[in-house]
Amino acid sequence: MATYKPQRRPIFRIRPAEARDIVSLLELETSCFARTEEMFNRRQLQRLIANPRAVVVVAERKDRVLGWAAGLVRLRLKSYSGRVYAVAVHPDAQGKRVGYKLTSHVLHALTAYGAQRIFLEVHAENQKAINLYRMLGFIDQGYLANYYGPHHNGIRMMRSATMTQRPKR
Ligand SMILES: CC(C)(COP(=O)(O)OP(=O)(O)OC[C@H]1O[C@@H](n2cnc3c(N)ncnc32)[C@H](O)[C@@H]1OP(=O)(O)O)[C@@H](O)C(=O)NCCC(=O)NCCS
Repeated sequence: MATYKPQRRPIFRIRPAEARDIVSLLELETSCFARTEEMFNRRQLQRLIANPRAVVVVAERKDRVLGWAAGLVRLRLKSYSGRVYAVAVHPDAQGKRVGYKLTSHVLHALTAYGAQRIFLEVHAENQKAINLYRMLGFIDQGYLANYYGPHHNGIRMMRSATMTQRPKR
């Protein structure tokens, strides 16, 4: 007999971010980060959304923005690389795979642009985010002392665009 598994995860859709989302994104940044050094401001968000080399997406449920993510593609020495530039999920929507879906979407888009390798930086004490990135195939590449300010160290991580994501449970 088939067993019934209750649906606990929120149903949300992922769509490209637009200028009208900036107020929601600013609120998300404030709710997710304690330090202004780690937050995007209005001007940075405007520039990111307008950047043709950026992939900026939001997770939305019933007109509410639950999270967002951004990636950038760049051309260096005739080869494309990508960078996961931002991922944030509202605290009351965390732990429900929203971050996973957003980041996966950005990785696919960067790969489709032709990025051979994808990089990111993360606060060394942000274990939630590090777990997420490891699950998506990122490996540690370097330690960045004081990257986010005095005593706030970072880790640079890298993922080969051709690697397959570990299957989700
Ligand atoms: C990091 C963040 C984006 C993760 O988003 P999320 O929607 O909560 O994560 P998901 O539900 O998709 O979980 C994906 C994986 O992340 C890891 N993870 C999520 N919550 C975790 C927790 N509380 N502890 C440890 N690992 C955790 C797990 O590996 C999880 O996979 P699992 O559920 O199979 O164990 C989110 O916590 C967030 O917005 N944090 C504040 C902003 C931030 O730090 N952004 C990253 C900047 S580099």
